[in-house]
Amino acid sequence: MIPIARPQMSRAEKDAVMAVLDSGMIACGRIVTEFENAFAEYAGAAYGVATTSGTTALEVALRALGIGAGDKVVTTAWSFIASANSILYTGATPVFVDIDERTFDIDPDRIEAALEANPDAKALLIVHLFGQPCDMDRICAIAKRYGVKLIEDCAQAHGAEWRGGKAGSFGDAAAFSFYPTKNMTTGEGGIVLMNDEGLERKARLLINHGMEKRYIHDEIGYNYRMTNIAAAIGLEQLKRLDGFNAARRKNAALYDSGIANPLIGTPFVPPGAKHVYHQYTVKVMDGRRDELIALFERNGIGYGIFYPYSIPEQPAYRDRGFGTDWPKTDLVKSQALSLPVHPGVTEDEVGTVIDVINSLGSL
Ligand SMILES: Cc1ncc(COP(=O)(O)O)c(C=O)c1O
Repeated sequence: MIPIARPQMSRAEKDAVMAVLDSGMIACGRIVTEFENAFAEYAGAAYGVATTSGTTALEVALRALGIGAGDKVVTTAWSFIASANSILYTGATPVFVDIDERTFDIDPDRIEAALEANPDAKALLIVHLFGQPCDMDRICAIAKRYGVKLIEDCAQAHGAEWRGGKAGSFGDAAAFSFYPTKNMTTGEGGIVLMNDEGLERKARLLINHGMEKRYIHDEIGYNYRMTNIAAAIGLEQLKRLDGFNAARRKNAALYDSGIANPLIGTPFVPPGAKHVYHQYTVKVMDGRRDELIALFERNGIGYGIFYPYSIPEQPAYRDRGFGTDWPKTDLVKSQALSLPVHPGVTEDEVGTVIDVINSLGSL
């Protein structure tokens, strides 16, 4: 079996966890601070506040920026549900925007149209989907022009770059996930990045029961703290992140050059983007996806359909009146198929996947 994801754990992660366990300081402490500083520095931000997950990181980013009940936040119709759920948690309302079918990311033209139609929108939450960075020149210019806060969902984009700037360094705040399938992991975990000191303080209050001084709670906060155990894994994974991404990019290049089937569209990467292939997602044309999936299953090849539905058509969303007009998302969700691209996939295995894809014949 060639799995669609496999976390990479070395002796270093295991030793780091054992050292934390032996120290007795297993909850949030010095190792978390070290991880926050190291990750923020890596991604080009001044501050990092580590959390329990990417979902809580997104929620904290929004709340720290003052997003709450009655506010509108423009976001993509096609992502993992957490991108939009985080908006709903704050009491705000998502305004969904369709994607660019070439990049799979939110379409900047449609963002402008949504902000024109919703002049009271407070924020824009973009997602660097599958590790493909959004066009941050255009998106930063739009956020500035319309005076909205910009939040980057970087859950799938650790180390991705737009014109040399790292994902997570462009917005007012950014959120990352360290779930095991991601480009690096802490087990479960997340982090919020920002450059503003006041924002960092707000985020830190939110993740720790609104408490700066011991047992004085300035506001209603949460327990969203990362543990030293998770941070110890994260520190070791961060050292290996560039290597992991290089392996993903190498596998992606093999797919790019090896897939020679007119029924398959390989990923489009615009100039200026450094894609880190959280997913290598192809388009299967002519309604042949199920047939290719059957071939994969017969040949022990893992795959993923990310994502089979738009967020606004999910059962939890569809009766809330978010609309249904996402033609690009509707097209792409029926074509998308993600191939095993993670650092644990060997060149031979990529070759096997390519052979199976190329064997899908025309009718
Ligand atoms: C785009 C996106 N946003 C947010 C999340 C939420 O992260 P987590 O699973 O760590 O809560 C994920 C990952 O699962 C994701 O892929």
